[in-house]
Amino acid sequence: MAQSNDVILEVRGLKAQYRSPRGIVKAVDQVSFDLRRGETLSLVGESGCGKTATGLSILRLIEGLRGEIVGGQILYHGNDLLKMSSEKLRQVRGSKIAMIFQDPQSSLNPVLKVGDQIAEPIMLHMGLGKKDARARALELMKQVGIPFPERRIDEYPHQFSGGMKQRVMIAIALSCNPEVLIADEPTTALDVTSKAQIMDIFRHLKENKSMSIIFITHDMGLVADTADRIVVMYGGRLAEAGTVLHVFDTPQHPYTMGLLKCLPSISGSQTRLVPIAGTIPSLIDPPDNCNFNPRCPYVMKMCREVRPPEYQTAPGHRAACFLYTQFPVHSPGAVAGVA
Ligand SMILES: Nc1ncnc2c1ncn2[C@@H]1O[C@H](COP(=O)(O)OP(=O)(O)O)[C@@H](O)[C@H]1O
Ligand SMILES: [Mg+2]
Repeated sequence: MAQSNDVILEVRGLKAQYRSPRGIVKAVDQVSFDLRRGETLSLVGESGCGKTATGLSILRLIEGLRGEIVGGQILYHGNDLLKMSSEKLRQVRGSKIAMIFQDPQSSLNPVLKVGDQIAEPIMLHMGLGKKDARARALELMKQVGIPFPERRIDEYPHQFSGGMKQRVMIAIALSCNPEVLIADEPTTALDVTSKAQIMDIFRHLKENKSMSIIFITHDMGLVADTADRIVVMYGGRLAEAGTVLHVFDTPQHPYTMGLLKCLPSISGSQTRLVPIAGTIPSLIDPPDNCNFNPRCPYVMKMCREVRPPEYQTAPGHRAACFLYTQFPVHSPGAVAGVA
């Protein structure tokens, strides 16, 4: 559990969209959550539900990818990143909030030595000279478990395996001691062994509580022992949010219940895999109702007609579902300490 209620990042009613030939894709539709000091928050949901778009929006990287942010606030220590000058935003990116991506292959420059790629942001943001930056790069390579760093620091990306490339990406992200690390499916492109080793790095970072981490994954199995809190997304919207303990113990949203049933049971012989029937909704001009209703076993008439607000079902636990109308409606920012 996170020790602190110190909120570093507040995402408030975020709306982001992509322009596509088929129309406007509402990739993030009024999503709100807080990130506290030293915690790991997991963004989970099936592929295509807006997790990456949310991560990209926090750093406003979505704007360079035919995307735009059309509503909400992203408060970093109370300052709205959406209103920040590009100069200030550049300082935040890389040195305060860093992001690592699913595919390490396409994120590294093939013609630059690995060590130089780790050292570059250190020189740029921390003002270290070449020699000190190289020493720090070496230290980071050791920290992320790259063997023989003294030799490998002068090698090129093609000499690294997928798992080792991802370690390099993590080293680059950690290079300036960011306060926030956004990791977007950092193990998805990797083999099983590399995946386990990368997860160890994240477990270690979490235990150190040295930074706040947003861990994006479609794999509920990775969430249980990595995250303190979870935000479950569905079709660009927040379905449920709460502590890992609460959400795994008493999932509220039928979508979360479905995701958890998809997890193979490790407790004994009853290994069950029950996929959620149906497919994810189109995010182009979605109707203003509950977007999970076509797949929901508990669907009611109102679910087809109106979009549910988020009901606060317990302190720090909320679900966008009409099954919980007896609970108060959660309004972002209104309840201190509740994310
Ligand atoms: N560059 C893009 N242009 C148009 N639509 C996109 C683009 N990138 C993603 N999308 C769409 O935005 C929605 C959310 O995608 P994404 O955030 O990548 O989901 P996730 O990370 O949860 O898999 C999906 O419908 C996806 O097809
Ligand atoms: Mg993604």
